[in-house]
Amino acid sequence: MDKTTLICYIFLMLNPRRVLIVSRHPLYAQGLRRLLQQRQQADVSVVAVVTGFDEALRAIEQHAIDLIVVDYDDQTINREDFLAHFVEGDSKLRVVLLSLKEDGDRAIVYDRRNFAAAQIDTWLNEWAEQPSQISAKKNNIPFWRTIDMKHWIGVILFIAVLTASGVMLLNNERLLTPAASLQAVPIDRLFSYHWTLISFLFALVAGFVLYSIIFFRRKPGDETDAPHIEGNNALEVTWTILPLITVIGFAVIGADALAEVTRVDPQALEIKVTGQQWSWRFEYPEYGIISDVLYLPKDRQALLVLESVDVLHSFWVPEFRVKQDLMPGSETELRITPNREGAFKIMCAEICGNKHTSMLADVQVMSQTAFDQWVSANRVASDDPVARGQQSYTTYGCNACHSLDGNPGVGPSFKGIYGKEHTFEDGTTAVADEAYLYESIVNPTAKIVKGFAPAMPPTFGQTLTEEQINDLIAFIKAQK
Ligand code: CUA
Repeated sequence: MDKTTLICYIFLMLNPRRVLIVSRHPLYAQGLRRLLQQRQQADVSVVAVVTGFDEALRAIEQHAIDLIVVDYDDQTINREDFLAHFVEGDSKLRVVLLSLKEDGDRAIVYDRRNFAAAQIDTWLNEWAEQPSQISAKKNNIPFWRTIDMKHWIGVILFIAVLTASGVMLLNNERLLTPAASLQAVPIDRLFSYHWTLISFLFALVAGFVLYSIIFFRRKPGDETDAPHIEGNNALEVTWTILPLITVIGFAVIGADALAEVTRVDPQALEIKVTGQQWSWRFEYPEYGIISDVLYLPKDRQALLVLESVDVLHSFWVPEFRVKQDLMPGSETELRITPNREGAFKIMCAEICGNKHTSMLADVQVMSQTAFDQWVSANRVASDDPVARGQQSYTTYGCNACHSLDGNPGVGPSFKGIYGKEHTFEDGTTAVADEAYLYESIVNPTAKIVKGFAPAMPPTFGQTLTEEQINDLIAFIKAQK
């Protein structure tokens, strides 16, 4: 058997379609190509010619390779790498070390044994029977079948424990303020479902990662690559369909909760809520009462009609769970059915200026009887202008910036303000008379008292009636 016949014979037996050549000498690849062309009957193609081991690995990543032909006479190539990786290692691939030198009639195969022409028959037969890596891939044993069952049981138990811990931690009642309204029930239920799902998803990701870090660590000295996994249709379909069903499920539960939260009770008590920088005002049109504290009867739905006089605010009582934005020039609605008596705090949940954090008000949830008593006590408007002015002072939020004790706030204190001479930012002075107080209420930026910023909203001219302004002036005059 001459050399050409022998080489052709190797190729015939191994029947490769896609060949990778490893050699630094261009003549080697040329010579081999020429030999391959002589084999008319096979469609062998050289997919790449590389010069070293690392390049060969990259070529294998990119192409399906049936056979690697290494130049036996190229001393720069470290054959040990190829033998260790493809013959003894995990990534078995057919490797032929082939000498194309003219002398001698031999092919040198994977383990560098020199075969006589006659011996190569046996060896080729053995190799031909072994499936190549490529065809093993086509038979496709899913990678998880290659993992020990005890690891599966271990990781499932680990994920279950992580999920349970997450559920216990997140569903802890102390994480939320105690609920105090009917509307809080569906919202807390939804919260609880979410916590459970979040715990499971977290455990699923963190569980596999932590388990792998512990049990599938690289052994010292192991330099081999991990198996190359090329997608998995069943897994991808599963992790698309399951979340889709979950999200649709949550959409249904969410829509249901929204319907419950917005359910209309025709007997609802209507209260007009006005937000402004930086106070709250509550009007009970049924009783003609204006208050700076929100009084609510227990177990009766309150329909809050909300509006802002200046910028965006947001009405929020954590115990009631629901939250609603207030917009200037457009009313919004919020329904609350308090089911627990007690005092709560309204907070503004929309940043609205430099005193946003102190835009708070009290809520009092009381029995229907106590509420009725409060209504009858407050129903009759006082005929004393100073008393009416005092009520406006709190209900319209003047108290947020103007103290009565002489301490300056965002604005000057009302104590002793009337009749006093003031110096303004532009250096002018004036004595605070009724006209000055009136101008300062309806057009607050006209005169800025020295040392203060122009912070007062210019909206009081619209929100207050003439009578209310006069009441306020009377009240301010009374602060000696
Ligand atoms: Cu109003 Cu923040």
